[in-house]
Amino acid sequence: MIKLYLAPMEELTGYIFRNAVNRHFGHIDKYFTPFLSPDNRIMKTRSAREIIPANNEGLYVVPQLLTNDPPQFNDAAKLICDMGYQEININFGCPSNTVASKFKGSGILRSPELMDRFLDGVFDKKGSALSQYPDLRISVKTRVGYNETSDFEKVLDILDLYPFYEIIIHPRLKKDLYNHKPRMELFRSACAKLTGDIVYNGDIFSAADFNALTELFDDPSDGYAGKVTAAMIGRGAIKDPGIFRQIRTDKAGTKAELFDFLDELYEDYKEVLGTDNAISKMKEVWSYVTLLIPDEKERMRVLKTIVSAKGDARYKDAVIVAKGKIR
Ligand SMILES: Cc1cc2nc3c(=O)[nH]c(=O)nc-3n(C[C@H](O)[C@H](O)[C@H](O)COP(=O)(O)O)c2cc1C
Repeated sequence: MIKLYLAPMEELTGYIFRNAVNRHFGHIDKYFTPFLSPDNRIMKTRSAREIIPANNEGLYVVPQLLTNDPPQFNDAAKLICDMGYQEININFGCPSNTVASKFKGSGILRSPELMDRFLDGVFDKKGSALSQYPDLRISVKTRVGYNETSDFEKVLDILDLYPFYEIIIHPRLKKDLYNHKPRMELFRSACAKLTGDIVYNGDIFSAADFNALTELFDDPSDGYAGKVTAAMIGRGAIKDPGIFRQIRTDKAGTKAELFDFLDELYEDYKEVLGTDNAISKMKEVWSYVTLLIPDEKERMRVLKTIVSAKGDARYKDAVIVAKGKIR
């Protein structure tokens, strides 16, 4: 059975969200933290809160690191292992220009030499986190290239040299951002080439999308057969956090369940971050939840009311209006 993962999403899938989604809907095999930059601040404030075990009880969490520097990776990985984690994910996908211009995230996809040097340091037998914690599982989450589809061949050659626990592929180029359709022909080429487990990520917005994809992955004539062991869902899970349960049990989330989840999430954010920050967090969440409003003009109107709401009472009024429009 294909496993189900919640994607890392900065500002969205932090520990407060993870715990709420687990309590209300569950059926998620693995949670990834939004990227953590392992400079000397890794164990300070936000990053530390994200990964301290007390904030992640009962969840299988994989911290994600964004770096292209082996010592930075290894130092952070050792701290993470000391906290009891068994798995770490490397980010080769972030398309933000600030990140990519420093050859981090998707930026590393335009320098196969740098990628190889970095991975060599990560998987090195001496001095690495892996040498100290030999059971540590290292996975990577990657796009399929920077500007050109031809980039991917070199990337695959390098990824194939290292014993990744899993390779998570979002089949878009850096320059695609989230536009166009996922480039399935490149995803298929990865399935044909790579020996390890592959995780598919991209544009799963409903249980029907998931079913169509898994049918494709299971079809022995289609080149994917047997290689895809998990599916990772991001935006579709913010819009409908019940998607995992629906995939597993066929029981879709109801409107009442969704609204309970959103109300509790807001209260949880308020408790930790205060009202203003909780409202900004919820605005991000609502930018996906309002996709459940079929009429675009109405959706934009509702979202605007939420986004411009200031203070607890106004936010709650805007939410009442939004709930009334969701089908
Ligand atoms: C707002 C936002 C924040 C994201 N943050 C991260 C991140 O921290 N690390 C990461 O690897 N990917 C990040 N992503 C990419 C998602 O994990 C995922 O690859 C992408 O949304 C495609 O999957 P989906 O179609 O299921 O949403 C982010 C995406 C969005 C839209």
